[in-house]
Amino acid sequence: MDTATGPQQLGGPDNARPPRLSVVVPTRNEAENIPLLIKRLAPLVVPLGAEILVVDDSDDDTPDALSRAAVDAPLPVRLLHRPASARTGGLSGAVLLGAEHARGEWIMVMDADLQHPPESAAMLATVAMRHDVDVVIGTRYAGNGSREGLDGVFREATSSWATRLVKSMFPRRLATVSDPMSGLFAFRRSAVRLDRMNPVGFKVLLELLVRHPGARVAEVAYEMATRHAGRSKASLREGANFLRHLSRLRGQRLVGQIRTRPRTLRDRLHELGRLVAFGLIGLSGMVVNTAALWFFYEPAQLHHLLGAALATQLSTTWNFLLVDNLIYRRQRRAGLAARASRFFLLNNVLLLLRLPVLQVLVWAGVGVLAANAVTLVALFLLRFVVNDRVIYTA
Ligand code: GDD
Ligand code: MN
Repeated sequence: MDTATGPQQLGGPDNARPPRLSVVVPTRNEAENIPLLIKRLAPLVVPLGAEILVVDDSDDDTPDALSRAAVDAPLPVRLLHRPASARTGGLSGAVLLGAEHARGEWIMVMDADLQHPPESAAMLATVAMRHDVDVVIGTRYAGNGSREGLDGVFREATSSWATRLVKSMFPRRLATVSDPMSGLFAFRRSAVRLDRMNPVGFKVLLELLVRHPGARVAEVAYEMATRHAGRSKASLREGANFLRHLSRLRGQRLVGQIRTRPRTLRDRLHELGRLVAFGLIGLSGMVVNTAALWFFYEPAQLHHLLGAALATQLSTTWNFLLVDNLIYRRQRRAGLAARASRFFLLNNVLLLLRLPVLQVLVWAGVGVLAANAVTLVALFLLRFVVNDRVIYTA
């Protein structure tokens, strides 16, 4: 059979009612283990309305062993066998494929080698389906959990260090998760977007957790047993896959933050509003500037260049107060003194550019107030290019 046609039902009743729980079991050369797993697990999960879906990447006779065990099983047992050419994603790929074909509203993932004791798994599923949560993790690192079953001190140490590393990489998401790399977990089908998941290697749960920051997570402790028969498929290559997976998750997270959601109409209106506000403030500043220049030039009898320089300090103060409070209020990064001094520096540099032009216009016979207004308008247009944003985002 091939995966395109979907799973094949090997045995058990043809339930008229869709199952509530799909137990997805990935297998790779587990011919000696899978019959015992079915035998022990089936009676425990029948009351939950379960089906078992085995996703197999074996070269041994796991499919035959499963077929024999499924004949008189008390629940539907289905098999998806992936031929060697279709084994994409390894363990993770198999689990995701199983989840796609699962019919239950809850999906539980567990290993075939009996390291996840069927009693613990059934208990985990029961707890999950009774509570208002999205993901329930079988943990070896909390409560009465234990990882006695991890073969060898080396595996044990690697496992706990890898767990620490991963938790430190995703401190917020994994704050309440003690065993983010557990192979025993259950999730509510509707809470997970399978199309978002793209794991490499063994750590499907980690992928699920990182990709679904809003999921409600709970843990149930269990004691990991030793492998019943056969050998672990963990290898140095899986170790490398793990690192690859981590860097991908990490990178994705950053990309997700930088490439934020697409701009909506609201964003555009907001931007337009800012532009209009910016324009109105600029206009009001010109009025303030012109009025001040009139005062310094006519009644106060100051030189028109000095008057223009003083008027600019007044209008700059006016503009700063408005811009700082109305436009960039939420984007303030620097302190008040820094913002104000940048604002005044920029405006005085622009004043130095403006004064010669003003003088030329006056020499040409343009009235002082009109000449000043012309330079202000020109400057205003220039400000759209040299935006005030530099003051806030630099
Ligand atoms: N379909 C499929 N394809 N199944 C696979 C593959 C694969 O490429 N590789 C492994 N499996 C199956 C195995 O047949 C077994 O049922 C299960 O996945 C776990 O594989 P093991 O080889 O027994 O892995 P492990 O015991 O070293 O690792 C377990 O514990 C880790 C935590 O310590 C797994 O549960 C890991 O997912 C878990 O992170
Ligand atoms: Mn194992």
